[in-house]
Amino acid sequence: MRVLKYSSEAIKEAASIIKEGGLVAFPTETVYGLGASALNPEAIARVFEVKRRPHFEPLIVHIADMMELERLCLRVDDRAKKLIKEFWPGPLTLVLPKSDILPDIVTAGLRTVAIRMPSHPVALELIREAGVPVAAPSANPSGYLSPTEASHVMEQIGPEIDLIIDGGKCPLGLESTVLDISEEPTLLRAGAVPIERIKEVIGEVKISSPLKEKRRYSLRKPLKILKNGEAGSPPEGMKVGLLAFKPPADSTPFEMVEVLSLSGDLREAAANLFSSLHRLDKAEIDLIYAEPIPETGLGRAIMERLRRAEDKK
Ligand code: TXA
Ligand code: MG
Repeated sequence: MRVLKYSSEAIKEAASIIKEGGLVAFPTETVYGLGASALNPEAIARVFEVKRRPHFEPLIVHIADMMELERLCLRVDDRAKKLIKEFWPGPLTLVLPKSDILPDIVTAGLRTVAIRMPSHPVALELIREAGVPVAAPSANPSGYLSPTEASHVMEQIGPEIDLIIDGGKCPLGLESTVLDISEEPTLLRAGAVPIERIKEVIGEVKISSPLKEKRRYSLRKPLKILKNGEAGSPPEGMKVGLLAFKPPADSTPFEMVEVLSLSGDLREAAANLFSSLHRLDKAEIDLIYAEPIPETGLGRAIMERLRRAEDKK
């Protein structure tokens, strides 16, 4: 494991690691983030692997430049502009309609993306130097407290990542406030910017129930998870699309096949999952069969996502 105290050389090194698809923990004004290029689906899959979450969660994309915002989301309305003027750079994360340049795994398949411009100088310098938007959850394993010092990151996930930039203690020590303004303004997570201050800028804000949020990822097409070893013959007259883990022995019964990984690699499969599901959902088929995925490492999160799609009807 490597830890470098902040210096401009350390930032150059961290930026090149991020550009090449690696993982770097870095300080922000709220908590330490576990950063990867938001444009690299395999790097993002590795973030989920290190977090050991039993499911995929959409990540916050960090930017250092307002031009990036225009590239990453479809529209920035007046409400968003007012909030940005008031609170950026700083600990307010805005959920906005996402553009197509972001891979689906960053947003766990959602049509919206969470974006923030941090105010910590080390974070800003790193993002600028990397030249890509940086997706970063808090740098802790699932179920642990968010790290506010480099030593917390080291103890929790140090050996699994490429580099930690030690920029001292995070000044706020509390995560950013997450506000969805893709539709009616809705508070998704209370955080460092108090809701009262947001109301002063844009008026009424709804408070969401976290449970309802969990239900939002849905497919239009019915999906069925096959049993282990089951070939899955399509019902009479039905067009079926297959979501296969590895290349299938026989693809003739299917209208289309999406292969998640040629070599059967879970990280590659996770990186491809959401785009494959979107393609299947849009295709001219009646239903989706999904092969079961081995439930180790990222396989658990993949199966959790498939089960949620299956349950929905
Ligand atoms: O202060 C922070 O926000 C830190 C630093 C590193 O920026 N990051 C952080 O990330 O706390 P994370 O992944 O631990 O929490 C992100 C939160 C999650 O609750 C997630 O559900 C929500 O943001 N979120 C992200 N994208 C979303 C989206 N498109 N729609 C709804 N919620 C979203
Ligand atoms: Mg977190």
